[in-house]
Amino acid sequence: MSSDDWKRQAAEHALNYVKDGMRLGLGTGSTAAKFVDLLGGKVRDGLKVVCVPTSETTRLHAASLNIPLATLDQYGSLDLTIDGADEVDEELRLIKGGGGALLREKIVAVASERVVIIADISKRVDVLGRFPLPLEVVPFGLSATRRLVAALAGDCGCEGEVKVRVGADGAPFMTDNGNHILDCAFGVIDDPEALDDALKLVPGVVESGLFLGIADVGIIAGPKGIEVLTGIESDFDEEI
Ligand code: A5P
Repeated sequence: MSSDDWKRQAAEHALNYVKDGMRLGLGTGSTAAKFVDLLGGKVRDGLKVVCVPTSETTRLHAASLNIPLATLDQYGSLDLTIDGADEVDEELRLIKGGGGALLREKIVAVASERVVIIADISKRVDVLGRFPLPLEVVPFGLSATRRLVAALAGDCGCEGEVKVRVGADGAPFMTDNGNHILDCAFGVIDDPEALDDALKLVPGVVESGLFLGIADVGIIAGPKGIEVLTGIESDFDEEI
């Protein structure tokens, strides 16, 4: 089995959390896309849901499958969001934003009563930080923001290259919100909460890809089957 198969298995398992009539947040990335494919099949078979996508890519994908869509402003809050992640630790702390959608992903996740993360085993880590931490930053003052990020992260014991992400055209990658992404190769993030607090002090940082205390359930698929992780503050483990 390949990581693609495990992503699909995790997505299939997440369907168990979806109930008729729910307002759903739809994540971004290759794993979330598998969930959208499966959800499209369920909608075709008669499932009634309304979905808020976390990116233009996911919006187009869901629309192509005739999944009913809404904006977050139409509802204000959602029942459940299903999304992928770049890293997941044992406490269900996450790094997200590899696809550049972290800001909308975090807005949608925080507006959701429950958040289920789906991933293949390659995303499961003991300590966050192997995957470069994405930060969404405003274009104005990019170099100053980058320098301050590196300095404040250094105060938290996080050293490593802070790079402006570039797109296929060689220009700085542009998010759906018109911002850029800094990818921070810290290697090990010993204290994600302290780092997140420090990064929020940088005026040019819109949001960090650290998702702390947000996920309720993590569905991790690998060669030994499916591992279900439960967030420390979640009461959402046995409801399926
Ligand atoms: C998108 O911005 C990310 O947060 C994704 O959730 C993350 O990059 C996982 O993507 P894959 O499922 O493609 O690995």
